[in-house]
Amino acid sequence: MKVGNQEYQTIWMDQEAKKVCFIDQTLLPFNFEIKSTDCSTDLITAIQTMQVRGAPVIGICGALALVLALKNNTSTDHIIDMAQKIIQARPTAVNLAWAVNRVQESVLSQAEHKREQFAWDYVSELMEDDIRNNYQIGINGNTLIPPGKEKPFNILTHCNAGWLATVDHGTALSPIFQAHKEGKNIHIWVDETRPRNQGLLTAWELQQYDIPHTLIVDNAGGALMMNDQVDLVIVGADRISINGHVCNKVGTYLKALAARAHQIPFYVAAPLSTIDQNFKEDVNFAIEDRDSKEVTRLYGLSDEGSLVHVNYPQVKVANPAFDITPKELISGIITEKGIFKPNELKAIYE
Ligand code: MRU
Repeated sequence: MKVGNQEYQTIWMDQEAKKVCFIDQTLLPFNFEIKSTDCSTDLITAIQTMQVRGAPVIGICGALALVLALKNNTSTDHIIDMAQKIIQARPTAVNLAWAVNRVQESVLSQAEHKREQFAWDYVSELMEDDIRNNYQIGINGNTLIPPGKEKPFNILTHCNAGWLATVDHGTALSPIFQAHKEGKNIHIWVDETRPRNQGLLTAWELQQYDIPHTLIVDNAGGALMMNDQVDLVIVGADRISINGHVCNKVGTYLKALAARAHQIPFYVAAPLSTIDQNFKEDVNFAIEDRDSKEVTRLYGLSDEGSLVHVNYPQVKVANPAFDITPKELISGIITEKGIFKPNELKAIYE
């Protein structure tokens, strides 16, 4: 994807230097900085601090952390131990365990002396798959967007499920990029997404392509829907149950309720790697409860243009990062294999 006029991925490998490079998302949209490391624990920290964030790219970052962990030690015990540590970095997005477990299993099937190079090659393919799958999500999801020549077609999105949340293309934003490429007349309502303001990342991505968009506070969506200013909602997902329930950034559920009340189609875009076959009805995983400072401490530019933190008074805070949208509120799930009704997902695995 483009930043200015240059093409980037969110994360990439420098195989020669045996390093991993990534865009530091904690500094966006104010500063664009690339970090690089040859150290596995730096990538675990990057996931925890959300320098790298968004379910699909967390998975890739975790996979790369395991690759780097093989630098001086390719023993089975070390690999199993490191894989566990990496998976624990963030609990909710299933893509992390999905990717790390895949790398672990494949690497352990190799003779010890072959493991390190095998891991680099294997994860390189996982990254290519991520790029291909998300591109295809864009092609599939774009079929929901009419040309809307006269009047713009209004799409609301929550959080950031753009290319920054993946290796490239994004999930919920991929159909939007595709529609824009085809010259469709669209306008995007971008939820701010407190407390981490991922909406600013979405706005920043849309700016790079001059896609018309408007940032809104998280509570504005309901009134916009009531006033016929939203034609379609597309969000991403951090974990999807095999029965079609969707765990995504907190606030998604409220948007789904409002969309249902106003008969607005509500779609979720995610690769199949976001489907957790062990998640059926009951929530059997942790909903990440993040630091209270995320709520009481804001970060941004002062009027003078320097980056500053400002603090609210210290009060009791709850900061659950995700919620569950029941399948009944979801019109369809856009994947690389097509668009499915929530109750059709099971059939993919049968
Ligand atoms: O906490 P984050 O920023 O890692 O949350 C993930 C998200 O960006 C969203 O929930 C997104 O919709 C799913 S990831 C494509």
